[in-house]
Amino acid sequence: MTINVSDAGGRHRSPFRTFARRALALGGAGLVSVTGVVALSGSAQAAGSTLGAAAAGSGRYFGTAVAANHLGESGYATTLDTEFNAVTPENEMKWDAVEGTRNTFNFSNADSIVSHAQSKNMKVRGHTLVWHSQLPSWVSGLAATDLRTAMNNHITQVMTHYKGKIYAWDVVNEAFQDGSSGARRSSPFQDKLGDGFIEEAFKTARSVDSAAKLCYNDYNTDGVNAKSNAVYNMVKDFKARGVPIDCVGFQSHFNSNSPVPSDYQANLQRFADLGVDVQITELDIEGSGSAQATNYSNVVKACLAVTRCTGMTVWGIPDKYSWRASGTPLLFDDNYGKKAAYTAVLTALGGSSSGGGTTDPGTGGGTDPGTGTGSKTCTAAYTATQTWQGGFNGQVTITAGSAAITGWSVKVTLGTGQTTTGVWNGTTAWDSTGKVMTVTPSYNGSLAAGASTSFGFTVQANGNTAAPTVSVCTAS
Ligand code: XIL
Repeated sequence: MTINVSDAGGRHRSPFRTFARRALALGGAGLVSVTGVVALSGSAQAAGSTLGAAAAGSGRYFGTAVAANHLGESGYATTLDTEFNAVTPENEMKWDAVEGTRNTFNFSNADSIVSHAQSKNMKVRGHTLVWHSQLPSWVSGLAATDLRTAMNNHITQVMTHYKGKIYAWDVVNEAFQDGSSGARRSSPFQDKLGDGFIEEAFKTARSVDSAAKLCYNDYNTDGVNAKSNAVYNMVKDFKARGVPIDCVGFQSHFNSNSPVPSDYQANLQRFADLGVDVQITELDIEGSGSAQATNYSNVVKACLAVTRCTGMTVWGIPDKYSWRASGTPLLFDDNYGKKAAYTAVLTALGGSSSGGGTTDPGTGGGTDPGTGTGSKTCTAAYTATQTWQGGFNGQVTITAGSAAITGWSVKVTLGTGQTTTGVWNGTTAWDSTGKVMTVTPSYNGSLAAGASTSFGFTVQANGNTAAPTVSVCTAS
């Protein structure tokens, strides 16, 4: 079965395409620190040092699309939990996912995203209730009366299941045509129920959950054009007639064929002036480097300049999981490294990088009674430097604390099944399990206060892509 969905450029692609699977997705840097044998560090985040915290500084959220099947990947979950304070299930709440068979509802994948979000105090955008795409064939086959019943039942069941848990619902998605006609898009709903299906969907939605914000969401409506004019006129009409609508979502999928419009902010503002919130709902911008960073920055600034722009959502975390992966349109690279675009967004949001985390050398138990010169301390930070099918290279950077040191020792614990095939710039001693290596300097033990060195190692993953645990750095 192939169902085509439209993307920002009006092109079509299969939603069921296979993503290129790369071997590994390792966690970001892990940072530990001890003084003598006692204190592990806290990795204190300064206010505004993450996307979510920086956006919260102006009362907004910064969210991402999430796919349930990646939540078990440590780098994915860590980046999600650290950086974002809102989520949108990327596919898990769509009609085909929750009601593939009439009146048989399966919420398990969507539930896993919602409960993850709730446990981290993140907002959830519900996406989406009525859409022509990712729509099961049993729906498109129904005659008008039955289709109306099925649509209202779908809205009712799904919104009831998530009642009280959703910040905003995309009640209707992509109901207008591209191009200059300003017409409604042909779909089973449009073709059988007529223009009125949209307001009927919103009225049903309001009757089920009066607390959730109800949004209309679309693409190619980001600037002032015939399509956005048509949506604007609909929203204006809804407001005039009291049809319940609270917000308009601007998907904002950009690339060179569909660049960030110069009137983006003005367009957001004219919708806000109708008395609705506006949100950037599926932001991704193909490109790289400073050009991509500038585009991202401009989008964020536009939202911040519009009082009723309540939040922004990017359409995925690392490039490798983007629906447009080849265009590298997201803020994190395949190893969850922060791209220039990330820094530009954080800066535009008014935040600033914490420089990789603050380390706290601790105080307890670290005094040296022999010399009385104070504690020698070190921190150890792990990063994955390279990944490939079946293995990866890890690097541990050791940084001396406020005193010079002449030696260090770091413990690295491999995951189940993992083995190392080489260690460089360090000397290893293994414990009896063969899983824990204590690494000491090979030549690089003397570090001035604040100075760094590193050692590296190669891991055969044997199916386990988790980052090894770097647990202790002891200075001497
Ligand atoms: C996309 C998902 O990202 C893909 O994983 C899926 O294969 C197709 O749908 N407009 C929308 C989103 O409203 O739901 C779409 O998401 C992207 C375009």
